[in-house]
Amino acid sequence: MTTSQADISREIRAGRDGEHEHQPRLDYPAYRSSILRHPAKAPQPVDPEGVELWAPSFGRSDVGDAEADLTIQHPGEPLGSRITVSGRVADGDGRAVAHQLVEIWQANAAGRYAHLRDQHPAPLDPNFTGQGRCLTDADGWYKFTTIQPGPYPWRNHRNAWRPAHIHFSLFGTDFTQRLVTQMYFPGDPLFPLDPIFQSVTDPKARESLIATYEHDLTSPEFSLGYRWDIVLTGSHRTPLDTEEPA
Ligand SMILES: [Fe+2]
Repeated sequence: MTTSQADISREIRAGRDGEHEHQPRLDYPAYRSSILRHPAKAPQPVDPEGVELWAPSFGRSDVGDAEADLTIQHPGEPLGSRITVSGRVADGDGRAVAHQLVEIWQANAAGRYAHLRDQHPAPLDPNFTGQGRCLTDADGWYKFTTIQPGPYPWRNHRNAWRPAHIHFSLFGTDFTQRLVTQMYFPGDPLFPLDPIFQSVTDPKARESLIATYEHDLTSPEFSLGYRWDIVLTGSHRTPLDTEEPA
């Protein structure tokens, strides 16, 4: 791993010369593994099979309320700053996407995932697994209680660090609405250095991946509030994520 952050930053700057794209570029050389992983051929339209037209579907009884609180999954309290993350899920016309599954996964406060592939020297938290889910309500709102995730190193290049983020997966009401993406936190100094964040080359689209601090969502004596809205389809669609699952 001899590539330096300066090399990657130069590549990120060079990548800005082209058109600004709302979705991440599939082939984004500064994000090394995207070169080998992206599809090499144009997608082929296929007719969905019957099962794909009505599945996956989740009944309200399939997802318990407690699953939206990542701080109560173990006997003790996890370490770190407690946060509330909430927002509205809408389609491209601004209509609420109601009663749909929202799943999240994230690193703990020390930047470590509870996952075999993450072996970097930061502590695991026995009281934090880092996975949760909920259904949006009738007006398209979701809400999670969790811990502020830490930034973590990855091996894209020497001294590569990911800005703190929470992974999101949404199914929407059909397969064309499936969205896997990441939410970031405002003011992170790692934004300009991160080739995954920068693989979305349109600055406005990148901004739409960053939550806003919202004091009305902050609970007294309990947690800081962040608001992050998600658009599943249309030209304002939240940019996808291209990160390999941890
Ligand atoms: Fe991650």
